[in-house]
Formats: sequence, structure tokens, C-alpha cells
Amino acid sequence: MERVRTAVLISGRGSNLQSLIHARHEPDYPAEVVLVISNKADAGGLVIAEQAGIPAKVIPHKQFASREEFDAAVDAALREADVSLVCEAGFMRIHSEWFVKRWEGRILNIHPSLLPAFSGIHVHEQALAAGVKISGCTVHFLTAELDSGPIIAQAAVPVLPNDTAETLAARVLEQEHKLYPEALRLVASRKVTLENGRAVFPLIRNRDP
Ligand code: GAR
Repeated sequence: MERVRTAVLISGRGSNLQSLIHARHEPDYPAEVVLVISNKADAGGLVIAEQAGIPAKVIPHKQFASREEFDAAVDAALREADVSLVCEAGFMRIHSEWFVKRWEGRILNIHPSLLPAFSGIHVHEQALAAGVKISGCTVHFLTAELDSGPIIAQAAVPVLPNDTAETLAARVLEQEHKLYPEALRLVASRKVTLENGRAVFPLIRNRDP
């Protein structure tokens, strides 16, 4: 089986990268991580890539005069590796519009909240401050706006009375590690596609009116 060549963009720890790499051990998994790109030279995820024998590239955003030039370097690396899908996993940079357009429908992001609630940073602090009783994580197609875009999959967790941002983050992260490989499976096997700004599941028939 030919697996869809997938790149993962990171900025830090790389635990979601790890779960995406690990998915290759599942039978018939339709995607394979063939390239890791980090905008930070000290990202922990680079070690994970090395241990898994996956080529990793550091493209430090600070070396570029503009967002566009940085994105052009990322785009060139993705093309050079003949990548078809891109997963952002804790990649803390906003892309330029042309980059998002170029990869439209082929670039995913994971965010540790039930979007559209609590985008941006300090997500778990935001959830605790709002007093929500349920939080979770979202995988969505990337759009030019931060942490928005058509939703592919979500998982929910309870928010417990004594939660801190750290305990809630850990509970959500456990779900992220299951959700992201499943969302990538759906996209790589074309069970979900981006059409007219919506995530469409062609195998699920609309209910008759
Ligand atoms: C994850 O919790 C991910 O959802 C979040 O960063 C963390 C990265 O952890 N992403 C965002 O907040 C995007 N807005 P990891 O490096 O261990 O995968």
C-alpha cells in the first residue's frame, strides 16, 4: 500500500508528532511521516524525529525578513520532500495567506480546546477562567485565521473541580494523541475533504429532509 507522504511542522516538545509517527505501526494506516520541520533549533520533537529515522529540518523563522519568505522556505522543503499532506503539531507560527491557499485542504492543525472556544495561547487557563465543565481538542483544516477552519474531529474531556491548567492540559493531551492520528487517517484516505470551506464526509449520506 502506498502511504500518503506527510510532513509534520513543530515548534516544541513533539508529543503529537510522536503519536503521528507511531500510527505507521497500525495495519493499513494510510499516511506516513516523511519529514519534520521545526522553526526552533531546540525543539524536543527533533530528537523524536531523529530516533525514528525521519529527516528533520530546522527553518528558523528569525532568519527571514518576512512571514512570506519564511513560508516560501517551508514550502520549498515540503515540495522537495514530495509531501502531499501537512500536519501542524504545536507549530506556533501564523502562515501567510498564499501559503495557506497553496496547501488548502491538505494542511491540518490540532488545538487543545473545543474550537471555536478558546483559540490562541493559554488555552487551558482560558477554559478554567470561563468555568466550562467540558473541554477537549480539535483537529481542523488550516485557514489563514488563527486556530480556525473547518473541523475534522473533536474529542471531549471533563473539567474537574480541582483542575489546574496543567492537569487539564494533561487530560486533553491524552485525547490529542488518539485524535490526531485518526483525523489524519480520515484525510489521507479521503474520507473527509475540504469543499467550499466545509469539511465534507462523502461516505456519510445526508439525512433525508
Ligand atoms: C499541543 O497541546 C497542541 O494542541 C498545542 O500545542 C501543544 C503541542 O504539544 N497547539 C496549539 O496550541 C496550537 N494553537 P506537542 O509539541 O507535545 O505536540
